[in-house]
Amino acid sequence: MAANQKDEPLLEIKNLSVGFNGAHKGKPVVCGVSMKVHPGEILGLVGESGSGKSVTCYSVVRLLGERGWTEGEVIFDNKDTLSCLESDIVAIRGREIAMIFQDAQSFLNPVQTVGSQLTEALMLKKDLEKRSSDIFRKEAVKLLTEVGIPDPERRMGEYPHQLSGGQNQRVMIAIMLAGDPRLLIADEPTTALDVTIQAQILRLLKKLCKERNMAIILVTHDLGVIAETCERTVVMYGGKVMECGPVEDVLVNPKHPYTLGLLSSKPRIDKKVKKLNTIEGVVPSPENFPEGCPFYDRCINVTDKCKDISPPIVIEGMRHYFCFNPVKEGMVWK
Ligand SMILES: Nc1ncnc2c1ncn2[C@@H]1O[C@H](COP(=O)(O)OP(=O)(O)OP(=O)(O)O)[C@@H](O)[C@H]1O
Ligand SMILES: [Mg+2]
Repeated sequence: MAANQKDEPLLEIKNLSVGFNGAHKGKPVVCGVSMKVHPGEILGLVGESGSGKSVTCYSVVRLLGERGWTEGEVIFDNKDTLSCLESDIVAIRGREIAMIFQDAQSFLNPVQTVGSQLTEALMLKKDLEKRSSDIFRKEAVKLLTEVGIPDPERRMGEYPHQLSGGQNQRVMIAIMLAGDPRLLIADEPTTALDVTIQAQILRLLKKLCKERNMAIILVTHDLGVIAETCERTVVMYGGKVMECGPVEDVLVNPKHPYTLGLLSSKPRIDKKVKKLNTIEGVVPSPENFPEGCPFYDRCINVTDKCKDISPPIVIEGMRHYFCFNPVKEGMVWK
């Protein structure tokens, strides 16, 4: 069930714009993005490559690098992570808000055992009261068990290359759980894995979300992953939000033509089609983003004003979208 919208959000992104000095002719790569995530909820962030999903996530924890700039607010625990003190963001990053990435192999240290990487994370993130290394070791084994690593005692002494891709992904998740995060940002955590392992990792994220009442932002370009894992979803394109709402509404009854296009490009097991639809064209690069809807030149519902005028928000119950000519019932992508 989708989180109650009246619940206090754990994180609220308000009108976020992001750019990089000296790049894209000064144009922002993310423009006026807003979204909320509640405790115990998995919010899916979906969109084609280059739509601004990762940049949005990195700005939440101020990981954009020196050239990155931001406008707007990101409220976490009554603090604006974009403007709070450096010491505050350092305390939040990796503890209150943890991130996991696509490639666990490059995140983990190849010359350090799984156990020592995990105990190190625990020692760094928990208060260093006079705890013996034995206690940290026990906690590390507990975390490995929680993320479903078989025979955790033995795995503690092994190196990342001795584990499979899926197991390394679980180890990275365990390291991130060491700080007891309240929000986990998972940026394409399963893209590099085969489908059965992908399903296991997604199941693990769902379990952790529920058991720890943790919020998760799950970034993906796969609508199947969204359908299976998330309660609400935000669809992004060209640095802007196209639509947002409960997964069962957005994926069954899309309002934005872009979402309809994405859904029509996905193979379905229950319908035989002669040829899979595609959305003609490519995501524009930020220097070519129009004033209006970035999807205008690929859209089947485009009208004169779409290019130059940014569509205002349309709110319908738990969902909202930005489009002058939303999808009508029964419409197909052609
Ligand atoms: N450090 C940077 N400097 C300049 N431009 C950047 C930088 N990082 C990202 N961008 C640009 O920001 C835009 C959005 O990138 P982002 O990585 O957020 O896309 P994404 O939606 O995560 O795509 P993918 O699905 O491929 O991961 C892209 O046009 C990208 O080129
Ligand atoms: Mg990305």
